[in-house]
Amino acid sequence: MKSVLEFKARKGKGRISMSTAYAHWEAKFLAASPVDCVLVGDSVATVVDGEPTTFAATPEIMARHTAAVSRGLGGIDGQKLLLADFPFLAARKGVVPAVECAALLMRAGAHAVKIEGIDGHEDVVRHLVESGVPVMVHLGLTPQSVHGLGGYKVQGKTVDDAEELVRQARAAETAGAFGLVLECVPAEVAREITEALAIPVIGIGAGPHTDGQVLVFHDLLGLNPGFSARFVREFADGNKCVTDGLASFAAAVTDGSFPSKKESY
Ligand code: KIV
Repeated sequence: MKSVLEFKARKGKGRISMSTAYAHWEAKFLAASPVDCVLVGDSVATVVDGEPTTFAATPEIMARHTAAVSRGLGGIDGQKLLLADFPFLAARKGVVPAVECAALLMRAGAHAVKIEGIDGHEDVVRHLVESGVPVMVHLGLTPQSVHGLGGYKVQGKTVDDAEELVRQARAAETAGAFGLVLECVPAEVAREITEALAIPVIGIGAGPHTDGQVLVFHDLLGLNPGFSARFVREFADGNKCVTDGLASFAAAVTDGSFPSKKESY
């Protein structure tokens, strides 16, 4: 999938798969995979840097990772739709700083940006869309609001909270978003939102009824030691693969079998 037009056309026609990527080597694996699209998530701060929140990601950090991923996906000739996250507060400083952030991310190779929340920055979303920058909106558990939400908790559990989420989802669509990410909400709430919108809804911890699913690359490959969450399925045993590989390397160095004659000049 190369464009937001293809992304939108998939509504109701086949589920969309999305993975995060932060690095060039990850992007090369994704480029060769059938995964539809790629997100340079601000989760880079937690997954790669070990921060407790995503707050440490800045527009410059996001642009640097976006450029690395874009190169790994094949740059201008790449076959995957590439999104980049607006980091902490980047959509909240007004339209001009938001345009500057979007310029950094798009110049780095993103085809679209993802922005957490909608209330209070509908004008930013609308202005970016009218400026030719496709915007995806992220609702539900929005990690940049972790303290306001009282922790990393499932959202939309009461009838009132669920109705509030439906309202926000409609507001995002009205503002011009081409897609939605819905994180950690009950499956039935995600179903209602998916059915209510004409744009694709991508879930993470939002059950099976959305138009697609996104997972963090490291989580889906079992490469995030010590992390587990109910909504994550490990599709590979990356932890074992890496642990065994490192142990074999150390053992081969210790017993002198590496490097061999063939591996020497
Ligand atoms: O930053 C991120 O990785 C994300 C996805 C989990 C949706 O926003």
